[in-house]
Amino acid sequence: MKIEGSVALVTGANRGIGNAIALALLENGAAKVYAGARKPETITDPRLTPVKLDVTNPDDIAAVAGLAQDVRIVVNNAGMGGGEAQLLSGPLSVAREVMETNLFGPWEIARAFAPMLAGGALVNVLSVSSWWAMASAPAYSASKAAAWSLTNALRVGLPETLVVGVHSGFVDTEFSAWTSAPKITAADLAAQTVKALLENRIEVLADEFTTETRAALSGDLDALQAVKPY
Ligand SMILES: NC(=O)c1ccc[n+]([C@@H]2O[C@H](COP(=O)([O-])OP(=O)(O)OC[C@H]3O[C@@H](n4cnc5c(N)ncnc54)[C@H](OP(=O)(O)O)[C@@H]3O)[C@@H](O)[C@H]2O)c1
Repeated sequence: MKIEGSVALVTGANRGIGNAIALALLENGAAKVYAGARKPETITDPRLTPVKLDVTNPDDIAAVAGLAQDVRIVVNNAGMGGGEAQLLSGPLSVAREVMETNLFGPWEIARAFAPMLAGGALVNVLSVSSWWAMASAPAYSASKAAAWSLTNALRVGLPETLVVGVHSGFVDTEFSAWTSAPKITAADLAAQTVKALLENRIEVLADEFTTETRAALSGDLDALQAVKPY
């Protein structure tokens, strides 16, 4: 699809991968990029159009959909890890918050913007964790697996919209600061995402770990979980 001259909305665009995707869209000729953030004052790049958007707040979503009627590309990027909710301990309320942020928020945004996206695109930033379950972050893995399924349902249900799932292992942002595992840069993931849009591709597998994990899906579950990020 064409990015040149188009108008986009990116959630969680104040930092990390969302900010990199917003800038990559501009660099590829987008006419305007609405940069969603819980605190719009944290959007400091004058080329971006800040909008207040907490993806768990239906009023925010309705307000942005009302004012940004020119949007043809939506990037559901905002996300959280929720590591405090461990498998057998820790608050399940945090796991529910992860689901609200990583699954129900993007779903509600897809509903609000679907009428504007015929001939356009909906990009969901997912993860290798859509398929590779993490015992140390079960809510995160479950949310991304569910969001992957939702992404596929949206693709079937919105045949006039290019629905793209972006999967990656570790990306060098605050989100993954806890690990010294190999990481790709946010700019690299953003470039791969923009390339997929330009080439009308429905899936981004951003690194070797993700590609190997995706390929292991059809084999034994033990082999799937045995794929190592490093
Ligand atoms: N980094 C990785 O290793 C990695 C790998 C694969 C996939 N991903 C996915 O990539 C996406 C972005 O991650 P990142 O690495 O850029 O993380 P990050 O640097 O921690 O940024 C997270 C972004 O999401 C926003 N956010 C969180 N909850 C929100 C909410 N309720 N409403 C609106 N915005 C909210 C944050 O806003 P605030 O500034 O207000 O907190 C921030 O802009 C996530 O979906 C993540 O799951 C990350």
